[in-house]
Amino acid sequence: FSLKNFNTFGIEAQAKQFIAVHTVAELKTVLVENPSEKKFILGGGSNMLLTQNIEALVIHIDLKGKKIIKEDDDFVWVESQAGENWHEFVLWTIEQDFGGLENMSLIPGNVGTTPVQNIGAYGAEIKDTFVSCDAVAIEDQECKTFFKDECAFGYRESVFKNEVKDQYIITSVVFKLTKRNHKINISYGDIAGELAKNNITTPTLKEVSNAVIAIRKSKLPDPKELGNSGSFFKNPIVSKKDFEPIHAKFPEMKFYDISETEVKVPAGWLIEQAGFKGKRFGDAGIHKNQALVLVNYGGATGQEILAVSRDIQQTIFKTFGIQIEAEVNVI
Ligand code: EPU
Repeated sequence: FSLKNFNTFGIEAQAKQFIAVHTVAELKTVLVENPSEKKFILGGGSNMLLTQNIEALVIHIDLKGKKIIKEDDDFVWVESQAGENWHEFVLWTIEQDFGGLENMSLIPGNVGTTPVQNIGAYGAEIKDTFVSCDAVAIEDQECKTFFKDECAFGYRESVFKNEVKDQYIITSVVFKLTKRNHKINISYGDIAGELAKNNITTPTLKEVSNAVIAIRKSKLPDPKELGNSGSFFKNPIVSKKDFEPIHAKFPEMKFYDISETEVKVPAGWLIEQAGFKGKRFGDAGIHKNQALVLVNYGGATGQEILAVSRDIQQTIFKTFGIQIEAEVNVI
């Protein structure tokens, strides 16, 4: 079974077996009926690089549905099933005038994988509105609700990538969104500038979303046109102690204070300075408008993209003494 249409990088890889599940009951049945089979859980396929065939039973989480489960005067609790497309879900919340997800418009992938790496963009992260998620244990099919304080959310991090990695399948997620007094946040990056182009000073949720969509479209390739997985690397976090001599050597290096003791350096800047932006090696390349994004021009293999990523990592380390780490799951 070809996985080419199930990963946004558009990599050709074969799955030994493939099953799509549409309900939690179906998911449990598949788990019960295949106790000793190796399993690989596939959501939207937007954050992985397949470098080999999958010698396992691939379970595609295709659970659909979204609903309001609770509300008061100020807030609404919305539950989405894991297989809903993230961006369509965000647009739906905006249509209802529910606030909190608008800055995360147009992020590829499905709702169920958003907590795994605490997705974020333009000053917002899932953890800001996340209440809980339901998950099924692969081992014994028990259902468990993970509340926010159990998720250990960090920058592109959560318990699902660490302590309970490969143990649970997230089936639905609950977000708490505003019904009024929306906390519009346009302080990050170009959002305010994008709104100013249209003379908007007090934007609605929809206008913020539209601004984010415009910015993303100008920088980030559409996976339907050019295979990619968004940011391939995380922005490295460096201690101020280590950063001092690096900054002295490269005074023009961009950085953001993230705590008393640490700074975050934009990996896109490092990659661009190292000369990789827009480069192409066969069918693997570095996007011309955003150096953090690796792209597949059509026929690249996962191994070829991986080789480019390693070349970038080594060059960055040699040039700046900074280690950058993949954000994408390399399979
Ligand atoms: N930069 C460059 N050259 C580049 C790209 C970036 O010099 O080619 C520098 C610029 O100085 C720019 C800075 O990096 O000011 C930050 O760039 P940008 O605002 O585009 O954001 P980013 O740090 O590169 C992060 C997220 C993106 C998210 C944007 C916007 C990570 C790993 N990536 O990228 O998330 O959309 O911020 O909030 O944190 C993703 O995770 O897949 C993703 C796209």
